[in-house]
Amino acid sequence: MTHQYEASEDFAIAMDNRDPLARYREQFYFPCTTDGERCIYLCGHSLGLQPKTVRDYVEQELAAWAEFGVEGHFHARRPWVPYHRLLTEQTATLIGAKADEVVVMNSLTVNLHLMMVSFYRPTPQRRKILIERGAFPSDQYAVKSQLHFHGFDPASSLLELSPRPGEFCVRDEDIESLIAKEGNSIALILLGGVNYVTGQAFDLPGIAEAGHRKGCVVGFDLAHVAGNLPLRVHEWGPDFAVWCSYKYLNGGPGCIAGCFVHERHSRAAELPRFAGWWGHEENIRFQMDSEFQPMCGAEGWQLSNPPILELAALRASMDIFHEVGMEHLRAKSKLLTGYLEFLLDQRSSPKFSLITPREPNRRGAQLSLRLPHGGHSVCRALANAGVFGDWREPDTFRVAPVPLYNSFHDVYRFVQRFSALLD
Ligand SMILES: Cc1ncc(COP(=O)(O)O)c(C=O)c1O
Repeated sequence: MTHQYEASEDFAIAMDNRDPLARYREQFYFPCTTDGERCIYLCGHSLGLQPKTVRDYVEQELAAWAEFGVEGHFHARRPWVPYHRLLTEQTATLIGAKADEVVVMNSLTVNLHLMMVSFYRPTPQRRKILIERGAFPSDQYAVKSQLHFHGFDPASSLLELSPRPGEFCVRDEDIESLIAKEGNSIALILLGGVNYVTGQAFDLPGIAEAGHRKGCVVGFDLAHVAGNLPLRVHEWGPDFAVWCSYKYLNGGPGCIAGCFVHERHSRAAELPRFAGWWGHEENIRFQMDSEFQPMCGAEGWQLSNPPILELAALRASMDIFHEVGMEHLRAKSKLLTGYLEFLLDQRSSPKFSLITPREPNRRGAQLSLRLPHGGHSVCRALANAGVFGDWREPDTFRVAPVPLYNSFHDVYRFVQRFSALLD
């Protein structure tokens, strides 16, 4: 494939014809317009599309429930007690971790709190949390509530990273210098891998290294990274990471989330944790002893027996990811998002500007467009015509061509409709 883009529709069609991943598009359901036409869906950064195989995976577990009742925990074709492990290997591969460093459980914000219970260990000298001012609000609420819980005032204990005045993205060198300057007072660095508004990807290995050099605990929110960018989380060495599975991972609305705990904490007997029976040593779990004995590794942070139907839905999608491979997806993603950028540049107008970094290594699939005047109505009008990105107040339109199911022709048609509306 070539990086020499052309503006014609024929070029988009030719790119699709040459795309080795094109056939995966047919494995997903697309919403349709009232005329029955497939929508242009560039919203996988918010909710991924449904793989057509999901129904079958879920129905198998419904059938097992009907057939076995409670016995399904041990005697279903895929017994439910260890069912979550069907996702372990693929999850570890996806984020570049060892199998016992990952677990699928709960939802993202719940996992974030569980991780902070264990890994936010403030002392009088070192109590601050470093976060982006523009972090997803749930992360902001979670860290502020943890500060309150420990008796600290966010006004003095929360350090917030911001872009420089007049800029939209945080500079890597500003992160580094803040950590170097304030590191001795920071207990926890909690940063997202890709910012949800700007689409900026952060230098995760650099942040983990800079934080650890200063003795800080480092955690990542990978909600906008998992299934979007290749990761080598074990090697990069953060203490923990959390992510959701309903965006690029196509697990379905509210689907079960993921959690990584670095192996250096796998026993972590000294760490406090909020415990539940599913984190208890599995060989003796059903002895129903009242003394908690955590399992080794990330599984020791589980609380409850997991929702099998959600796990089944996620398996359908993860099987596709596993078959395709993140490296192949990323190669197409760079081409697809680069093509979107190229076409938008062709239609450049004072009515919108790109706020996502232009360097492919500083972004994933998403491009964010700033439309300071009337942008929300443009976004609404597009949605009414079956063209989906999404709007983030006050002025940002986010669009993400997803390499697993979007085509170059989707991108071409999106830019046609978008610029026609702007005109
Ligand atoms: C970066 C980020 N963090 C946290 C959340 C909250 O996720 P949940 O509602 O699954 O806890 C989201 C949701 O979109 C998000 O994008």
